[in-house]
Amino acid sequence: MTADPGAGMLLQARGIRKNYQLGGSEIEVIRGVDLTVSAGDFLAIMGTSGSGKSTLMHILGGLARPDDGSYLFGDRDMLRLSDDELSWIRAHWIGFVFQTFDLLTELDVRDNVALPFLYHHTPPADAERRIGEAIEKVGLSHRIRHRPVELSGGEMQRVAIARALVVAPKLILADEPTGNLDTRNSSEILDLFTGLNETGSTIVMVTHDPQVASCAKNILIMEDGVLTAA
Ligand SMILES: Nc1ncnc2c1ncn2[C@@H]1O[C@H](COP(=O)(O)OP(=O)(O)OP(=O)(O)O)[C@@H](O)[C@H]1O
Ligand SMILES: [Mg+2]
Repeated sequence: MTADPGAGMLLQARGIRKNYQLGGSEIEVIRGVDLTVSAGDFLAIMGTSGSGKSTLMHILGGLARPDDGSYLFGDRDMLRLSDDELSWIRAHWIGFVFQTFDLLTELDVRDNVALPFLYHHTPPADAERRIGEAIEKVGLSHRIRHRPVELSGGEMQRVAIARALVVAPKLILADEPTGNLDTRNSSEILDLFTGLNETGSTIVMVTHDPQVASCAKNILIMEDGVLTAA
């Protein structure tokens, strides 16, 4: 273990299992997953629908707890943290990007990107500078007062990426980030992720699309709740 979770190994999951109860029976969704992610990695996870990819992402992001296994994120034992401590980790260390963008429709670009600071004690001037930088990084400085309905799909996803980036998280988790985009917008989003990874962001991305996955440095396949090398 390193003292600084930003250096070397970032997360290590071992023997992760997750079951769901459905109509009196139990479904094994994650069936013993081992995963190590180091700072600077860009990992793609592929696999058929229903194989457990999103469930695994929820566990990695501290949104769901596994039924068994161990999970270290930096120097934290994620499975021993309280709900409040997990919320702190999610707010400070993890940036989420989802297929459906998940922007707040009433807020403009700047206010959507500013949302993570609701959970931070960042001086307002510092927060404002970082909001501006994140919006600039995704190339949307000219759309700062637009609301989601006034943006294209690709632009909406760029807002979601800026919102994920704005707190300089240790890990970006992206679940089908190009799933709702056409080819041109997908490749713009992938260029953005590639650039972020080149400048130090650690990314774990789920995708159905082999071409999208090929942008990552490593690819793993999820099959029936088990993760294997591509
Ligand atoms: N809350 C839940 N309760 C019961 N079953 C669930 C729940 N969430 C997911 N599942 C089941 O777990 C399995 C894995 O779901 P998951 O969303 O992780 O798949 P996925 O690989 O992300 O699929 P997709 O590619 O379609 O997004 C599916 O069979 C799903 O029906
Ligand atoms: Mg999914």
